Amino acid sequence: MSSKAVPYRSLKWVPQAAEIAREGGARLREFFVKGVETEYKGDVDLVTVADRTVEKLIRTRLAEVFPDHGMYGEEGTRERLNGEYRWYVDPLDGTTNFAHGFPQFCVSMGLERRPAGLKEDGEGTIVAGVVYDPLRDELFCAERGAGATLNGQPMQVSKIRELAESLVATGFPSRKRHSSPNIHFYQEFTLRSHGVRRAGSAALDLAYVAAGRIEAFWEFNLNPWDTAAGFLLVEEAGGRLSDFSGGPVELASHEVLATNGLIHDEMVGLFKAMFAGEDLAPIPTPAEWAAERVSREGKSQAPDASRIQSAG
Ligand code: IPD
Ligand code: CA
Ligand code: CA
Repeated sequence: MSSKAVPYRSLKWVPQAAEIAREGGARLREFFVKGVETEYKGDVDLVTVADRTVEKLIRTRLAEVFPDHGMYGEEGTRERLNGEYRWYVDPLDGTTNFAHGFPQFCVSMGLERRPAGLKEDGEGTIVAGVVYDPLRDELFCAERGAGATLNGQPMQVSKIRELAESLVATGFPSRKRHSSPNIHFYQEFTLRSHGVRRAGSAALDLAYVAAGRIEAFWEFNLNPWDTAAGFLLVEEAGGRLSDFSGGPVELASHEVLATNGLIHDEMVGLFKAMFAGEDLAPIPTPAEWAAERVSREGKSQAPDASRIQSAG
């Protein structure tokens, strides 16, 4: 966003949405402090009473403030989906973190404007987005054409020009983990950057690209409630979005790459090389490393029993 950002209070949807996200975030904070029981939606896909309670709160508050707007929530809300406006809501992005007491999660709300006649599953334009981190009290907001802000201050993507000087982030799905090749990308980008963070909240990862805290974020198979708000934050903060080939990205995209724009082509080039099966930076397998350790230190592959006893 330029320094001529539109003043927060004169924005059309963000001030009300931010209030609701703050209310939701306050509830999350209470649950987090108390601790909650965890249930399973899939083999490692968790859900808690906090996810459901905050989705309900947001549904009620949105209906009061924007009675014509629809809502599509991760925990099942499907309301007024045929209207001109529809909110994509993740009441708790980072549930696994939350359930383990790891302090990285947020509320994410993105508003889509849908042209008349668009099918229910067709994609409109995201016009507003709010991501709220209740533990740090950080509110990331954007409206299309009006720039992006962090706690009311203009925010912009970083100016770093090379992957080798970048901090980047990714995430791993909680479903069908065996069918994701992402660990290979994790390895490659780790070797070619200042590091890869895997903090467990895609909406915050996107907000951090927008805020210039990291240079890029990529992930496979995200959902619209993860991406809607964060995509607009990145665009309005001057960043770039695409799939892994540099093509257009969709809300429920199988591939999301969000960067500061400056390292985008370099990352797309690496994805291309990896998808083409090129051998990039080799690293030893655990077996190779262990064999090398034997010849280097004379150590066997079996753990040293005396060390185990003294540690116990
Ligand atoms: C998850 C988080 C995580 C990402 C997963 C998402 P949830 O959302 O955003 O960072 O890696 O793909 O499903 O389940 O915590 O709302
Ligand atoms: Ca999510
Ligand atoms: Ca969620």
